[in-house]
Amino acid sequence: MSNVLLEVNQLTTKYITRFREDVYAVDHVSLSLEAGKSIGIAGESGCGKSTLALSLMGYYFAPLHYQSGDIIIDGKNISGMKPDDVRRNILGREIAYIPQAAMNALNPTCKIRKFIRDVMHAHYPKMRDDEIDRMAEDRFRELNLPVDSLDLHAVELSGGMKQRVVIAVSTILKPKVLIADEPSSALDVSSQKVVIRMLRDMMNAGLIGSMIFITHELPLLYNVTDDIMVMYAGQIVEKGTAAEMVFDPIHPYSRGLMRSILVPEEGTRNIKLTAIPGTPPNLKKPPQGCRFYDRCRYRQPQCQYNAVPIADIEGNRQYRCQLSVDQLRELYTAEDAEAERKQAEDTVLQKFLKDTGMNSAKEENRDDI
Ligand SMILES: Nc1ncnc2c1ncn2[C@@H]1O[C@H](COP(=O)(O)OP(=O)(O)OP(=O)(O)O)[C@@H](O)[C@H]1O
Ligand code: SF4
Ligand SMILES: [Mg+2]
Repeated sequence: MSNVLLEVNQLTTKYITRFREDVYAVDHVSLSLEAGKSIGIAGESGCGKSTLALSLMGYYFAPLHYQSGDIIIDGKNISGMKPDDVRRNILGREIAYIPQAAMNALNPTCKIRKFIRDVMHAHYPKMRDDEIDRMAEDRFRELNLPVDSLDLHAVELSGGMKQRVVIAVSTILKPKVLIADEPSSALDVSSQKVVIRMLRDMMNAGLIGSMIFITHELPLLYNVTDDIMVMYAGQIVEKGTAAEMVFDPIHPYSRGLMRSILVPEEGTRNIKLTAIPGTPPNLKKPPQGCRFYDRCRYRQPQCQYNAVPIADIEGNRQYRCQLSVDQLRELYTAEDAEAERKQAEDTVLQKFLKDTGMNSAKEENRDDI
């Protein structure tokens, strides 16, 4: 029997603005997530990560609209289901969502215990308060969260603690799939680590069946998820294991994303930082050819006109580019060799200037100006 908990086939969703314009924020996205596994989704702001998260839950409210494709959770196809049925039967137990900046949405003057009761009553109107309290207390103990904090107001909790409480509450029904949208982005580094460890421990303990972790930082995912997908302008442009994607990105955008991160993760520190120039295309009128064309340093004339399908490569990897993997790797090798040569030249020059005292002469001259 297959242990796939989430299967998404060619999912396409769009926003319809009040001016009746379509914004194609999720365009033919497919993915498969097995029990006990996690997928990271990375991409810069506006590429469609949060829209994909909302779309995966099958819970559509204007201006977001379902257009086509399938969402199958543990064998059950939920695409086309009525929002009320999704809320009653799917959300919480089948699939749970921790929205971006969820911790800031906690009502500051509401006790955590009351908040949990409200959330549970939305799913189970007849459930008694004492039953809910018992579940919440058990879960807090399982997660090493102080049970006393149930009687605190959100305003009395630190940022890291608020986020851990939000995670505990969102997963109280032990969802088969958890989607965590930037759960660590607003936190300081030590709280980030605590939150990430908590999510990993919950997976290992079977409190979450599988996880989708969304972030704009690709390297962060190396320590968090099994696989990584990179999104650009509503489309998946590359998918692979975390190690493949972080240490050997193939798509020019994934490579750019890896090199544009200010806080590299463990094992990625020797990658030279460079920005990706330009901005993503307008999703109201996506380009007919490659969506990355305007910003791609390896672009060819044909990239502008021909739509690029996603293609399978070695293992379970996929990428979306007109150039072959060999062509791209050759370009990257030449580029890295050139960067290394320049760095070596620079080091020799600096040493020469230092040895001959020309550096300090330069500094003195500067003072004279
Ligand atoms: N309510 C809306 N109406 C119209 N367009 C929207 C709406 N919400 C988002 N969009 C557009 O959909 C696209 C995807 O937005 P989304 O919020 O999913 O991106 P994201 O990758 O999550 O960005 P971020 O990293 O900033 O959270 C963007 O172009 C955005 O402008
Ligand atoms: S298809 Fe062309 S423009 Fe697009 S990423 Fe590949 S090389 Fe760059
Ligand atoms: Mg988002």
